[in-house]
Amino acid sequence: DQSNLAYSVGVTLDRFIKLKQSDFPFASGELSQLLRDIALAAKIVNRETNRAGLSNIGGAFGQTNVQGEEQQKLDVIANIRFMRALSKGGEVCAIVSEEEDEVIDLQNNSGKYVVAIDPLDGSSNIDVNISIGTIFSIYRRKTPVGSPVTTADIMQPGNQQVAAGYVLYGSSTMLVYTTGFGTNGFTYESSLGEFFLSHPNMQAPENGAMYSINEGLEYEWPAGVQSYVKSCKERKFQSRYIGSLVADFHRNLLKGGIYLYPATLKNPSGKLRLLYEANALAFIIEQAGGKASDGSRRIMDIQPESLHQRTPLLIGSVELVEDAEEMIRNAE
Ligand code: AHG
Ligand code: MN
Ligand code: MN
Ligand code: MN
Repeated sequence: DQSNLAYSVGVTLDRFIKLKQSDFPFASGELSQLLRDIALAAKIVNRETNRAGLSNIGGAFGQTNVQGEEQQKLDVIANIRFMRALSKGGEVCAIVSEEEDEVIDLQNNSGKYVVAIDPLDGSSNIDVNISIGTIFSIYRRKTPVGSPVTTADIMQPGNQQVAAGYVLYGSSTMLVYTTGFGTNGFTYESSLGEFFLSHPNMQAPENGAMYSINEGLEYEWPAGVQSYVKSCKERKFQSRYIGSLVADFHRNLLKGGIYLYPATLKNPSGKLRLLYEANALAFIIEQAGGKASDGSRRIMDIQPESLHQRTPLLIGSVELVEDAEEMIRNAE
């Protein structure tokens, strides 16, 4: 039947989206079109990422963003590419981007969707040719279509997401996304310009023996995190951390593991941003049977208060995240 065909490896992203449209009896295809728009922008950013060293788009752009980070040229280019794709498609009324201080109101009040995006994740890795990514969340607007966009449309908790995904510009380029009916992975075949289903119905191993954390900040971690990481070492876990959230997340999703970015002195609420990093990956991991918390709360239940707010993030195999939460609770 149609749904089995949808999971046959080798089906293109376009065909998969079409086959799975039956999951949304009431949708009139805008979400499908929005996903296609994102995939197109990903193909363009992929090409620019692969040529960064050749076309002088490596290195710093020369400005800092609202995060206080020095923007890389590819941060800015990726931001422009995704904003253009999202505004041209007509389905989106507003965008929240890591690289934009304020909400971008597309003045398209007939757009049903709001997108939160980290156009380029792992920017510090661009010039050293280590995998980088893009992360996105899609929400349905709360206010009536046709009316102006308000804060209510933007400040939605992660449990309101209708879709979320990431692109991993790695040894191969992949698009992994969910619309709430499981998590599926597609691999890009650049000679054909198509994403093909390569990882149907991804399942996060319940357990694992791998942890990802920036050990350089060990002396700043909360006590519970220190004891959790110590317990990982006592159990001879593998330590794998490449400083690109999407790549670290993807590896742990496939092999089983936990990624932690706790509160530090420099970032007392953690470094990662709720709206366009934590929420999207939390939706994806939950749909694959994993877990995402800030150490005590489910990431997707956090009510956002500000656009670029940060959150501590523990994400990956459910048993590992629950172990870590327990040690954090016991340390309090
Ligand atoms: P971004 O490049 O979008 O600002 O995100 C960077 C994040 C994340 O990708 C990565 O895991 C983390 O920053 C690395 O932070 P540290 O260098 O502090 O470990
Ligand atoms: Mn950044
Ligand atoms: Mn990021
Ligand atoms: Mn970024």
